[in-house]
Parts: sequence; C-alpha cells; structure tokens
Amino acid sequence: MKAVYPGSFDPITNGHLDIIKRTIKLAGSVTVAVLNNPSKNSLFTVDERVELIKKVTRDMPNVKVESFKGLLVDFMKSQGADVIIRGFRTISDYEYELQMAHINEHLNENVETIFMVAKNGYSYLSSSIVKEIAKFGGSIDDFVPYEVEYTLKQKLNLLK
Ligand code: PNS
Repeated sequence: MKAVYPGSFDPITNGHLDIIKRTIKLAGSVTVAVLNNPSKNSLFTVDERVELIKKVTRDMPNVKVESFKGLLVDFMKSQGADVIIRGFRTISDYEYELQMAHINEHLNENVETIFMVAKNGYSYLSSSIVKEIAKFGGSIDDFVPYEVEYTLKQKLNLLK
C-alpha cells in the first residue's frame, strides 16, 4: 500500500496530524499532498502550507510533503501511489467524501479510498474553525501545534 493524504491544509491542524500518524502505523509511510488551487480562497499560499506541514512533521518517520495541481488521481500515478486516505469526522462529511471517493474510483479504478474515523476529540475540528477562532482572538493552542498558531497569528496580524 502506498498512501497519499490529500487536502487543502489551510492550515494543518492536530486532527490532520493524528490522521498522518495513524496512516504511518497502517501503511508505513505517507505522502501529504497539498492542493495548489489558486482559484480557492486560501489564507496561506501553497508554499506556506507545505512548509508548515514539513515543520510540524519533522520528527515523524516516513512523511513526504508535496503540492499538487490538477487531478488527485494523476498525482497519485506520478507517485506510484494506490491509496487515498481521508479523515472522516461527522455525518456532514459523508456526502462530500462519498462523492470524491466515487469520482476518484471512476477516474482510476485501481485507486482505493480509505476513511479514517477522526478521534472523538477532533471530530468538530477544521482549519476553518481554527482560523475563525484565531481571528476573533480565541485560544487555538489545543487545536494546532505551536508553529501553526504562531504563523497563523502572524498572518492575521495578531502578534504584538
Ligand atoms: O481538505 P479538502 O479541501 O477537503 O481537500 C479536498 C481535495 C484536495 C482532496 C480535493 O479537492 C481534490 O482532490 N482536488 C483535486 C482535484 C480532483 O482530483 N478532483 C476530483 C476528485 S473530487
């Protein structure tokens, strides 16, 4: 199994990191694939997102971080990967995740999607929620690593 964990990661959260750790246990290694889509309104540039993920995974074995453009199945092919890992939080993820899994299966039937159920403590966590809490001055240190908290506050001009 060669696993790819794709996403926007704008920015990476502790929920994402938990999925990365569990994927390494399952598959031995993982490539984190950061979507480079200029038409998506991301707070962080793709290079910033990649750098942040590299920083917070630096002590984890066998994690590769790449950005990709275009179709995920094409990126998977370029990496010789066959398994897409997605975190599954609540029922509201269901429709979107199922649609993506079916489309990816249609585009390449040799690619499998594996859903990892988010740990209870992370089922409400998302990058959007983290950005919103930070924007209004709330504490996010339970939700993201220190480097992410610092960079996010810097981005939002919240550092004194
Ligand atoms: O973190 P996200 O935004 O939920 O991740 C979505 C992502 C990046 C996995 C998805 O948008 C994606 O794979 N985009 C690449 C384009 C593609 O392959 N589309 C067809 C499958 S939906």
